[in-house]
Amino acid sequence: MIEQKLNELYSKFKNELAGVSDRAAVLNLKSLYLGKQGPITEILSNMKNLSIEERKVVGPVVNGLKEKIQQDTDAFLQKLEIEEINQSLLKNKIDLTLRDSVLTNIQNHGGAHPVWAIQREIEDVFLSMGFDIIDGPHIEDEYHNFEALNIPADHPARDMQDTFWFETEARPGKFRHLLRTHTSTIQVRGMKQRRPPFRFIAPGKVFRCERTDASHEMVFHQLEGMLVDKDVSVAHLIYFMKTLLSEIFKREVEVRLRPGFFPFVEPGFELDIKCLLCKGQGCSVCKHVGWVELLPCGLIHPNVLKSGDINPQEWNGFAFGLGLDRLVMMKYAIDDIRHIHSGDLRFVEQFKSY
Ligand code: DAH
Repeated sequence: MIEQKLNELYSKFKNELAGVSDRAAVLNLKSLYLGKQGPITEILSNMKNLSIEERKVVGPVVNGLKEKIQQDTDAFLQKLEIEEINQSLLKNKIDLTLRDSVLTNIQNHGGAHPVWAIQREIEDVFLSMGFDIIDGPHIEDEYHNFEALNIPADHPARDMQDTFWFETEARPGKFRHLLRTHTSTIQVRGMKQRRPPFRFIAPGKVFRCERTDASHEMVFHQLEGMLVDKDVSVAHLIYFMKTLLSEIFKREVEVRLRPGFFPFVEPGFELDIKCLLCKGQGCSVCKHVGWVELLPCGLIHPNVLKSGDINPQEWNGFAFGLGLDRLVMMKYAIDDIRHIHSGDLRFVEQFKSY
């Protein structure tokens, strides 16, 4: 009689358990059956009215039912937990092969600035052609910036570059300090550190006290290059420059060579490329002439070789100074140099994949 009642109770519990779907409902059901007010507690408290023989039979059956309800609810809770884990894994699925989406899900990651990216690209090209990469200080003295590059104090070429001078006392025999106006300063440092034949590039920031506009900034980037060897000719120079430009633009670009004056080269040239932005039609970047000055270059002046303790009777070479910001502008069709250092995230975020 009591056994039948317990069986009915258990199948009622099983039915109700099948109908619940969340943790709170399962716990509620468990306390309904096993709690103080529940039917099992009631049966157990009524045991005192039974005979010893009856108790011996009923006791284990009731305890068995209690245990089964306990086990069933535990198993159900465990199943729920596994389902929850699976569901959250499914929802936050991460495909590790999708590099970008993973990174943007995890955090708002940064990316290489376009000037830095193009610098790395050029460094790779030159490394593959046997060049070293060297560095020099931003704060320079007028010896490295001018004097050693064949620009003595009274030379009008000093006015070609508007210079930020430091307010150091002008003392006889002492060189004044300045923010380097070009990376050519590293030519002197590089020559003194090595013996020919050698070839190196030197990228970095340069500073000019200039009024800014769409194509001028006070801080911009250059990449200096120098090759010293025997019997170097303009043909070598053109070969290296063309290789560089076609690697960067991944296509043949139209170039022209004009005579250019720079005291540290002789002959000196301006290598221009046809404006990739307006395709030669004229725009603010090319100052409406259709061509952009990109690569001033030339054969190293004997006086400069002498500054580097190199005998110009024995050795010669070429040098060039590439404007990295202009290159970025050409490559990505940016019409105002001021965007490059604006720090505007809407600008830099466009280059995140680099
Ligand atoms: N230093 C020059 C400038 O900033 C650029 C330059 C011209 C560098 C000719 C060179 C060169 O190495 O050969 O205007």
